[in-house]
Amino acid sequence: MLTLNVNGKQLTTDAADDTPLLWVLRDSLNLTGTKFGCGMAQCGACTVHIDGQATRSCVLPVSAVVGKKIATIENVAAEGVGKAVQDAWIAESVPQCGYCQSGQIMSATALLQKNSKPSDADIDAAMTGNICRCGTYVRIRAAIHRAAGTLA
Ligand code: FES
Ligand code: FES
Repeated sequence: MLTLNVNGKQLTTDAADDTPLLWVLRDSLNLTGTKFGCGMAQCGACTVHIDGQATRSCVLPVSAVVGKKIATIENVAAEGVGKAVQDAWIAESVPQCGYCQSGQIMSATALLQKNSKPSDADIDAAMTGNICRCGTYVRIRAAIHRAAGTLA
């Protein structure tokens, strides 16, 4: 058994050490907000925070995150920056189909936790690995600026 710190709780899983964290979150811990897109660290749909860093969970063996703080979309609004991002997403009506948006919000939150007033270039650099097939990029950028303004 492995014990993981997920969203501030100690949770156990009997998954094999090399199981990708994404599948442990979804199948073992029933945290299905984090999505599978490509499975190859190419799309960002599976983004979670590991010790505050936006990280692709689809290629990360679960054994690598024992003892680290894992945060997922389910708990993002429990903290001020994540709440501001989530509220800004709603205010700007960012999602279209919504599939990529958990990952987008996790990447945006990690950006604002490090950089409270990102420029357009900062946003583009931080969000470049998060693909949106619906093309919501303009609204994502507006929502990040809105969240930064709320937090200022
Ligand atoms: S599912 Fe992990 S980056 Fe695409
Ligand atoms: S909202 Fe549909 S893929 Fe991004």
